[in-house]
Amino acid sequence: MIIAVDGPAASGKGTLASGLARHYRLPYLDTGLLYRAVGLAVAGQTEGPGFEAAAIAAAKALDAAHLTDIEALTAADTGVLASKVAVIAEVRKALFDFQRSFALQPDGAVLDGRDIGTTIAPDADVKLFIQADSKARMERRARQLEARGQEVDRYALYHQIEERDARDMQNPYGGFYKADDAHLLDTTLLDIEAALRAAIAIVDGTMAGKAGS
Ligand code: CDP
Ligand code: CDP
Repeated sequence: MIIAVDGPAASGKGTLASGLARHYRLPYLDTGLLYRAVGLAVAGQTEGPGFEAAAIAAAKALDAAHLTDIEALTAADTGVLASKVAVIAEVRKALFDFQRSFALQPDGAVLDGRDIGTTIAPDADVKLFIQADSKARMERRARQLEARGQEVDRYALYHQIEERDARDMQNPYGGFYKADDAHLLDTTLLDIEAALRAAIAIVDGTMAGKAGS
């Protein structure tokens, strides 16, 4: 069973996807980490003619060693860098095979990101598109960073998230839109447990429907 989970920044898709992976005992991949790792690799050189080439080279050279510094990878600034490298078609192409192979593991997998249901696994058994209003998303991300001891400027964070969402939605290569067959789940008013229960109900319902058809 392949489960695709997409949605905007801090919508709760990662928490939900890892909860689903635990529930169904499936391997889980946070694809945002790949773009974040490429962004980190080219931090400090995001302007100028060499930027695209450096980002493409970093995407081609990416391996597990680049995915270990979770604190640097998950920082808010790294998210902005990630969205800048994510608009480069060759970067997306370089990251495609790893994500596609992950999705095609024998038991299946859960992946979360922006283009899982549209591009990486358009054949996924269940697709979820997670939404939450932007103030709720900013507040969640703020608390998440504060829990790690980081100081947060909420005004700056709100604008960073808006800037990133806008860039992602205009990304001509990103496929960041709800797939026609994705189930929309708005988590604005749901806590983590309630969101997970709702997602499990959707997955179970979809799989039962497939088995019956
Ligand atoms: O992966 P994504 O950026 O979409 O979001 P996340 O990292 O899963 O969630 C961002 C923060 O919101 C985390 O600290 C979650 O614990 C929290 N969260 C929440 O408060 N309520 C939810 N329904 C989902 C996530
Ligand atoms: O967790 P959050 O939603 O804040 O960000 P993320 O999922 O770690 O993704 C960081 C950035 O990488 C996004 O803003 C996108 O620009 C890019 N990304 C993408 O283009 N395609 C994906 N499948 C995942 C992330």
